[in-house]
Amino acid sequence: MANMGTTAGQSELSARAEELLASMTLAEKAGQLTQYFYFGMLEGVEGPVGDQPREVQAALSRGGAGSLLFVSDPAQANRLQRMTIEGNRLGIPALFGFDVVHGLRTVFPVPIAMAASWDPTMVERAQAVAAREARAVGIHWTFAPMVDIARDPRWGRIVEGAGEDPYLGAAMAAAQVRGFQGGGLGEPERVIAGPKHFAGYGAAAGGRDYDEANISTSELWNVYLPPFRAAVEAGAGNVMTAYMDLNGIPATGNAWLLGDVLRARFGFKGFLVSDANAVRSLATHGFAADLTDAAARAVNAGVDLEMAISDPAYAHLEEAVAAGAVSVEAIDACVRRALEAKLALGLFEQPYVDEERARVVLADPAHREVARVAAQRSAVLLRNEGGLLPLSTERLRSVAVIGHLAASKRDTLGPWAFDFDLEETVTVLEGVRARLGGVAEVHYAPGVRPAQRMFPSIFDMFPGNVPAVPEGFDDEAELARAVEVARSADVALVVLGEWQNLVGEQASRSSLELPGRQLELLRAVVATGAPVVLLVMSGRPVDLRWAAEHVPAILAIWYPGTQGGAAVADLVFGDVAPGGKLPFSWPRSVGQIPVTYSHTTSHDPGAQGERYWDEPSTPLYRFGTGLSYTTFSYSDLSVDRDQLPVGETLTVSVAVANTGERAGDEVAQLYVHQRYGTASRPVRELKGFRRLHLEAGERTTLRFTLGPDELSYWNAAAGDYVLDTATFDLWVGGSSGAELGTTFATTPAVAQAH
Ligand code: NOJ
Repeated sequence: MANMGTTAGQSELSARAEELLASMTLAEKAGQLTQYFYFGMLEGVEGPVGDQPREVQAALSRGGAGSLLFVSDPAQANRLQRMTIEGNRLGIPALFGFDVVHGLRTVFPVPIAMAASWDPTMVERAQAVAAREARAVGIHWTFAPMVDIARDPRWGRIVEGAGEDPYLGAAMAAAQVRGFQGGGLGEPERVIAGPKHFAGYGAAAGGRDYDEANISTSELWNVYLPPFRAAVEAGAGNVMTAYMDLNGIPATGNAWLLGDVLRARFGFKGFLVSDANAVRSLATHGFAADLTDAAARAVNAGVDLEMAISDPAYAHLEEAVAAGAVSVEAIDACVRRALEAKLALGLFEQPYVDEERARVVLADPAHREVARVAAQRSAVLLRNEGGLLPLSTERLRSVAVIGHLAASKRDTLGPWAFDFDLEETVTVLEGVRARLGGVAEVHYAPGVRPAQRMFPSIFDMFPGNVPAVPEGFDDEAELARAVEVARSADVALVVLGEWQNLVGEQASRSSLELPGRQLELLRAVVATGAPVVLLVMSGRPVDLRWAAEHVPAILAIWYPGTQGGAAVADLVFGDVAPGGKLPFSWPRSVGQIPVTYSHTTSHDPGAQGERYWDEPSTPLYRFGTGLSYTTFSYSDLSVDRDQLPVGETLTVSVAVANTGERAGDEVAQLYVHQRYGTASRPVRELKGFRRLHLEAGERTTLRFTLGPDELSYWNAAAGDYVLDTATFDLWVGGSSGAELGTTFATTPAVAQAH
């Protein structure tokens, strides 16, 4: 297993695993490979959970489950662990997994926001905190990072990933794996990282979650796979399979994908888990004949653990062996990997957690500080006409804070958060009030009611996840009241976007409009003449065409987490300057989707974006864009050699200067374009970036290297990675529109003298 065994050598672990394996019955092996949800946290809550916790406890007590998910209470973890150990003859402990996606008790900004920071160091730090809290409560393994490239924001799960770009996605994937796992599986205060969903889940047809993905060979290898490869190379101990059909074959039963690509080509040595019920779904897909066949196909494809809510397919493994559909050796290979993970974590020696210590770790104030910095660094300033931001408190008498999302603690945290503390969650309203500390009056009005989904979400059963509409909410009166509040204020901070249950899993949309009557509210507030700062709380782009012309300042704050409101106040009042950049191209409207900066050129390039006759085909805000409260300039771009033999590396140098009056952060981005070759290559591709802080007037020189990793690509005709001899353009600047450029050429590899 990758990076395994800081507490024991690999051979020692393997020997112990082998010993256990040798004495296990087939039924015990099937139990080891079964992972159950445990919805104990929902007991007493109305919903579809029913008897599920009792089914799981019964399985544990007879050795029918080797792993659980959704247990995050340390006392419960200890109780269930005891049941597991006592329930199986060999005393094998359970592995506890959970979706610790962007924090546990301390909730960080959602992953798309953290990607917008373009700051892998910060992201690694945040996920290390998440790991520390998770491990303290008894969680051994997180189903994260989600590294699916998403180029269709109708797909709600874009919020969980790093956006559209494979290079940025790979950097974020590796940083998160390092944060969760540290240097290896046995490290204290760390958890196993499980990048997901392998592979291509983000390309769901029409952005409809779970629907099939049809991805060209070139796109699969050059766009969708690189973040997984980076996560594996960073040592990820686990990978989760995807739900959907990939080019006609379910990912969870796809031996080529899981075996030839993930294990053989990428060198993955950890264990694979199916997505929830995805083994059972092989039958739903019309791929497996029944559950027995599904279990056999999954094991044959290399899916080690089956994640199941109830009635697992792996319970049919004995039948599958009897029918000759799967071999005991194939099952043993899965069990071996599961056991090795438990051994590497030291679970046999230390299966239980210290409940008292868990309380202390969860309350650590240093974790909140990491969350505040993460939220500051994630925000993206999209517009700032007349330098409206930052607001000076000097002559400020009255501030209007408008929008239901401004005061909603649950929404501030975003989706995929379960163990939060609402009490300590800082909303935008609270953050602004605290920052102003009575210097100016703050008046709040929600303006409009939360928009409702057409069908419930799978997360609605978790308490507080469905936004409550205040009783007797009078829409017309509330709208009018919000306008009045704005009219009498010096500035209006309007927080609009999507309620957190409108994005995430099972939360695809057919439009990107601001849900409900939010645009109407915005127009009415702007019409008062009060200067308006629009704070966009969302996990995907929403339609900002009107705002982009009529609202002077727009700041994307995403779902900023536990300390979100405090960080937003820091940004709005200029205690820190925004420095985030968009991790996706922000479309004008849904009709443009997919719109990405990294596309190839057609026979009629349409340089001005002439494609649709009714709308420019360029995005509203391009990939990599983000303003600061200061300005930056780039100059003196050079390469240390303009002829680069294939296989060698060149160095790019560029000077960056802060040309404004304030300190600020910039993300310098390097883009490359191959002019010709054995395939058409995209107009530009990100191949390097660096976030840097510059004082007013400061100038620095940055260096990037370009070599085989950056210049090779998967060629569909060759069926392999290639590096062509060709002329390349390169640009460095503050967005994907960077204009400062130069060229170089790759030349045949220099023959090595023997
Ligand atoms: C289904 C989701 O697709 C996956 O991302 C998640 O980890 C599991 N459910 C467990 O919650």
